[in-house]
Amino acid sequence: MTAVPYSRITGTGGYLPPRRVSNDDFVQLLAARGLETSDAWIVERTGIRARHFVDDGVNSSDLALEASRRALEAAGRSAAEVDLIIVATSTPDMVFPSTATILQAKLGVHGCPAFDVQAVCSGFVYALSVADAMIRAGSARCALIVGAEVFSRILDFDDRTTCVLFGDGAGAVVLEASDEPGILATELHADGRHAGILCVPGTVSGGQVLGHPLLRMDGQAVFKLAVGVLENAARAVLAKAGRTEADIDWLIPHQANIRIMNGTARKLKLAPERLVVTVDEHGNTSAASVPLALDAAVRSGRVQRGETVLLEGVGGGFTWGAVLLDF
Ligand code: ACO
Repeated sequence: MTAVPYSRITGTGGYLPPRRVSNDDFVQLLAARGLETSDAWIVERTGIRARHFVDDGVNSSDLALEASRRALEAAGRSAAEVDLIIVATSTPDMVFPSTATILQAKLGVHGCPAFDVQAVCSGFVYALSVADAMIRAGSARCALIVGAEVFSRILDFDDRTTCVLFGDGAGAVVLEASDEPGILATELHADGRHAGILCVPGTVSGGQVLGHPLLRMDGQAVFKLAVGVLENAARAVLAKAGRTEADIDWLIPHQANIRIMNGTARKLKLAPERLVVTVDEHGNTSAASVPLALDAAVRSGRVQRGETVLLEGVGGGFTWGAVLLDF
């Protein structure tokens, strides 16, 4: 295979498990644990009205499979044509093998490289950047990039400040070698000094769970960091591509919190209707949130071929990044 100038998204897909849990459902769920919450508190602080949770026995690879099938169908490709699979997830099916290899087997294909990327809520942006580099270098021509999560498995339902924020789901894109743009520029960052503000500080050792196996977050610290790095990453990726904020047709940031998203759009002087929002119905699906939102915007006819889209991720690690592309 030879190097090519660009990689380009040729199909998108998304999948949410059927069980929708509204904020009012959460009021009941937490009341059973002696905790109070309300639809008004959750909506006002986060913009979230509902999220979807998997049933027992359903794993990230199952959600990834559905999203992948839809993305492949949209691209007009069969699984056999895929020559690279990357899954971004922090909730893999197993310690190993990777969820990407499990997905590969479920797709009924074998042979192509398949691996996971772990960058928490920035995972999809990281995976897309890696795939873009591999395609442009000539190492792959038709990549399947997936963000898939079952965060409901790592939530502490006795911690009302975190458990109401997250949901399960998967989003996928097919990314192909192209002479036309395409991904224009990518920008990735991490700062491990902030690992403690958003983490699941547990592990498996000697057959035992060591440490705390559920999500912990310092919400205010995350909020402050996220707002700053999202603006910086946006400006850096635009500069790399020789574009300006006026060139952005659609902003699709990580869907964690409507206040962070609105703040980013305001700083980039984008009209509110240029911001794609799915956090209201999906909650925060971590690595799945950006591809799920992209798929929703494509399937609803908002994002059109040739339009310029800014994808942004931010999350645990601390990690953040941006991908600027002409769709
Ligand atoms: N229902 C009702 N009351 C609640 C709830 C709840 N679910 N959770 C907390 N409260 C209460 C608190 O106990 C506190 O009460 P007090 O004043 O009597 O002590 C009050 O609400 C305020 O609590 P804070 O934690 O200070 O609330 P804050 O305004 O910081 O909002 C939030 C919390 C929404 C998490 C906010 O910090 C935030 O948006 N952080 C950004 C982080 C984020 O979005 N994370 C998502 C994952 S990270 C990522 O993906 C990048």
